[in-house]
Amino acid sequence: MPGLEGRVIYQIYPRSFADSNGDGIGDLRGITDKLDYLGGDGLGVDYLWLSPFFRSPMADFGYDVSDYHDVDPVFGTLDDFKALLAAAHARGLKVLIDLVPNHTSDLHPWFEDSRSSRNSSKRDWYVWRDAKADGSPPNNWPAAFGGPAWTFDEASGQYYLHSFLPQQPDLNWANPEVRAAIQEVMRFWLDLGVDGFRVDAVDRLSKDADMRDNPPNPDYREGRDNPAHAQLPRYSRNGPELAAYLSVMSSVVAEYPGRIMVTETYPDRPDRAEDYLALYDLYPDGAATPFDFGGVMTPWEAPRMKRFIDAFHAGLPAGRSAVHALSNHDKSRIATRFGPEAARTAAVMLLGLPGAAVVYYGDELGMRDVPVPSDEARDPLELRVPGMGLGRDPQRTPMRWTEGPHAGFSTGEPWLPVGPDVRTINAELQAADPDSMLSLYRELIRLRRERPALSAGRYEPFETGNQNVFAYLRRHEHETLLVVLNFGSSPVDLGAALPGGETLLSSVPSRLAGGAGHGTTLRPHEGRIIELSGENKKDR
Ligand code: GLC
Ligand code: CA
Repeated sequence: MPGLEGRVIYQIYPRSFADSNGDGIGDLRGITDKLDYLGGDGLGVDYLWLSPFFRSPMADFGYDVSDYHDVDPVFGTLDDFKALLAAAHARGLKVLIDLVPNHTSDLHPWFEDSRSSRNSSKRDWYVWRDAKADGSPPNNWPAAFGGPAWTFDEASGQYYLHSFLPQQPDLNWANPEVRAAIQEVMRFWLDLGVDGFRVDAVDRLSKDADMRDNPPNPDYREGRDNPAHAQLPRYSRNGPELAAYLSVMSSVVAEYPGRIMVTETYPDRPDRAEDYLALYDLYPDGAATPFDFGGVMTPWEAPRMKRFIDAFHAGLPAGRSAVHALSNHDKSRIATRFGPEAARTAAVMLLGLPGAAVVYYGDELGMRDVPVPSDEARDPLELRVPGMGLGRDPQRTPMRWTEGPHAGFSTGEPWLPVGPDVRTINAELQAADPDSMLSLYRELIRLRRERPALSAGRYEPFETGNQNVFAYLRRHEHETLLVVLNFGSSPVDLGAALPGGETLLSSVPSRLAGGAGHGTTLRPHEGRIIELSGENKKDR
């Protein structure tokens, strides 16, 4: 697939990246100021993906859009966006924006019109149903963020559907006017020059036409799981029209050469490679690619990660790219889930894989989740389903630029706490330290650009026979690289299982590595990239 193979996509959560005007909230000018950090002389990523910056009442911090054609004043102006795009393009950085097609804000003029009367010309733009005879909601579907997926509108006497917050009513994709409206939004931004979209929550676009009740989830643990998981989402998502609705969007992208879209779907079994691969059938034209969240959903255990990734690349249809992500604004950070040492190993794993690699802002510094006291919680999920650890504030805290006040993120009080460890986890310090996480990411991205085996090579499983080690080969013409990852905290001697070659990179900081050189023993948590000598040279 053009565009994505070998690329690195850097996700920016605009509220938390850089604040240019001291109001404590990141903004577009702040991002523009930091492009050198991201571009070729800095981290060296290819794409930026910006989470939503459109006009929004911010019930879900921008994933509730009230005007798809303008920038929210908290983030700046449309001219600020044009300036950001031009500055990014001048540095060779492409820009993906977040498209939220499943729902709008309840304050979007479309919904205000729709709810104004049952006779509104926009009534059918959203999903309205009568109450059951006893006044209860039309079916048992839960909202993802607590409570039922239906809210009763007193004035017009019907329920409307919202897969997420009551302030995020679902658009009715069965209505062709809605589909055309979203296509128009896409053309607006593509005409402005954006390089494509990350498309939000596409699994919700199509629902069961009869709106049947969902069955109970036998694995649900009350009090431990999100109450939304009390049922299996059999009828409330991934409905029969999904492929058609996706092509409504991908066909627009295909009108613009070189543009792409990457879609967010968590399959029902998000730790099964087959379920991600099945998503590719939904996008036969290749203009769109689903995210792979296997690495988000799989624990840091070598056999499980190996099983997932081997199966994924064995089954990936020819000519298609993977989009591997280990983190995002909805999930706990890598350094918290896997631990700070394993986070370095995970960086080698991610950036060694084929396809595109997604880096969530701050992970390149080893940022961890920041505990946010309950009285400072901002995420609506935490506010509505409190105390279960579901809140997403901890992974959305301000980027650390310096060790100065507010980590250099803002001159004012940041909207979320900056958290501890700023002295060691900040970009300025790490840029100057060859052993830092930032230097490791830079080195990995540089190697990925330089080595065809990493940017374009095929994936081959590699067996070491050790339960704590996950390894794979990348092959391109005469170049063969081995990526070998010790998932454990003890050294592992692979002996003869480790073929000879030149070590191009090790994740172990040189100050910890000592003078031991690069033998057959992997140090604790070591990730290594080795250029295999024997077979390469022989072929030449
Ligand atoms: C997606 C977004 C998430 C948002 C939700 C509703 O899952 O990633 O942040 O809350 O959709 O738009
Ligand atoms: Ca600001």
